[in-house]
Amino acid sequence: MVKPSDLIRLPRHVAIIMDGNGRWAKRRAFPRIMGHRQGVKTVRSTVRLCRELNIPVLTLYAFSQENWGRPRAEVSALMDLLYDYLKSELDEMLGNQISLRAIGQIDRLPERVRTCLLDTIERTSSNTAMILNLALSYGGRAEIVGAVRRLAQKCLSGTLNPEDIDEAMFASNLDTAGLPDPDLLIRTSGENRLSNFLLFQSAYSEFYITPVLWPDFDKEELFKALFEYQKRERRFGLTNEQHSESCTAKGF
Ligand code: FPP
Repeated sequence: MVKPSDLIRLPRHVAIIMDGNGRWAKRRAFPRIMGHRQGVKTVRSTVRLCRELNIPVLTLYAFSQENWGRPRAEVSALMDLLYDYLKSELDEMLGNQISLRAIGQIDRLPERVRTCLLDTIERTSSNTAMILNLALSYGGRAEIVGAVRRLAQKCLSGTLNPEDIDEAMFASNLDTAGLPDPDLLIRTSGENRLSNFLLFQSAYSEFYITPVLWPDFDKEELFKALFEYQKRERRFGLTNEQHSESCTAKGF
């Protein structure tokens, strides 16, 4: 078992594509919703663990834009699970100084869920220990297009010169404005795809793909991912020597 005392140099931002709930249920001949229910338990334990480890930002891909195309009963069950999760976790978020954020097309969520989400965001907004960022009705391409539109509007209205647009300004017009880019991007259940998740922000993220299905992604599995991350050498396009020099210069 990997021990927490070994966990030094942790990522500032962990982002997770939570995949495999359906397969988890299918293997047990359960309805898919049982897999999602079990998945919520893993959400709970993962948030708790990341908080205990002092990981500042955790982003969870909870519902993609494409997920609206699933059978109506499954979409509705997922919305109910999200609503129940928000209701049941508020006290823990408040007690553990966790601030909730959301990225994606929140206005597409059913009103009951949206109101509860915005209320939870508001009530946890002054918490400072960790940000739990839920990607809901989220699509990376749509997010990028939204940022382009906002910048184009400013150029049209004359408040922005196109020449002044740089990567930092672009990033500040994404839903994730103000958050660090994900250092570690985990995908469960073995698929080697980004599935329209954090396309701009994951340019230099370390990818960790595990065959473990999301409902089975427990403490041991999270620690494995964190250890794997620590073994990787992140050079951000530089040579080994340049990267070492740059780290020394920054005092790392
Ligand atoms: C992918 O599994 C998972 C989802 C589409 C939804 C993830 C949702 C949860 C974990 C529960 C709700 C979340 C919160 C934050 C309360 P899949 O159904 O695509 O699995 P499969 O690929 O095996 O079919």
